[in-house]
Amino acid sequence: MSKDQLILGIETSCDETAVAIVKNGREIVTNVVASQIESHKRFGGVVPEIASRHHVEQITIVLEEALTKANVTFSDIDAIAVTQGPGLVGALLIGVNAAKAISFAHNIPLVGVHHIAGHIYANQLMTELQFPLLSLVVSGGHTELVLMEKHGSFKVIGETRDDAAGEAYDKVARTLNLPYPGGPHIDRLAHEGEPTIDLPRAWLEDTYDFSFSGLKSAVINTLHNAEQRGETIIPKDLAASFQASVIDVLVTKTMRAAKEYGVKQVLLAGGVAANKGLRAALEKEFKEFHDTDLIIPPLSLCTDNAAMIAAAGSVLFQRGVRSNYALNANPGLEL
Ligand code: KG4
Ligand code: ZN
Repeated sequence: MSKDQLILGIETSCDETAVAIVKNGREIVTNVVASQIESHKRFGGVVPEIASRHHVEQITIVLEEALTKANVTFSDIDAIAVTQGPGLVGALLIGVNAAKAISFAHNIPLVGVHHIAGHIYANQLMTELQFPLLSLVVSGGHTELVLMEKHGSFKVIGETRDDAAGEAYDKVARTLNLPYPGGPHIDRLAHEGEPTIDLPRAWLEDTYDFSFSGLKSAVINTLHNAEQRGETIIPKDLAASFQASVIDVLVTKTMRAAKEYGVKQVLLAGGVAANKGLRAALEKEFKEFHDTDLIIPPLSLCTDNAAMIAAAGSVLFQRGVRSNYALNANPGLEL
């Protein structure tokens, strides 16, 4: 039997310093995430300079913790997979430079990974991927429907024309005076309220594209108009109405694409995949749709982590992909 393959993943694209070790691309050995959310909260969003500083402080600590928990040393690691982009350039650089330093010092192959490929490959930690598949990627920076015919092949069939879904959640949360990141708070409120307020849905007919900025403006206008009239809007009902609009569009377009492309699996990916309403709505739709399996990772694998980067890196490594020491952070890296 061939030896197990151990990939060390590093993720520092935004506000989590994360290191994980994954066996054979499928099995998590350790998954350590140091979140900086507390430091960014009072600013209502991620402050890039603060993020970089935290990554510098945390990276060696998190690395040591991952190795210790897995009871391995660098000599046991077959490859290092690191998020190369997209993300905040100063944050990405910390992970990329740590990965290059380890690779050089211990002579371990290096593989640069796209952050969104990582989010999609989080699903490989749940089940074996079967092609063709469709992934709904919904995060703080991305909203995309990605069709995959095989490993490593990503065709973006639809994307947002303005705000990402997570960004819309965070902005709406801010107008409701909820803490950063707002997504989980809106999600919680939405479950306590009723979707009684009529808000728009940007269907962008005949495309798989999305748009959330009109919805965000409608929420802000609803609040301002009510204020001017001396009326009160019940926040939980506004949250429920906003969430209903987002989910309606995401689920309808995902179902339509899944049918059109006859995919074997639909994967949910990215931070907004943690949304309880979205998970429940997709599960309900797929109950009656027997040709396609719906895969939803646990919450810990939806938000940023390094196990997903190791899983995506494992596939690249097996296909012979290697990065050299010219590997650089690329904030606008294309999928
Ligand atoms: O993937 P992620 O951790 O970071 C990026 O790569 O962007 O996604 C973070 C985003 C934030 O906008 C956050 O508000 C959103 O995911 N999010 C949620 C939920 N949990 C996290 N949005 C809606 N409902 C949630 N439960
Ligand atoms: Zn992410």
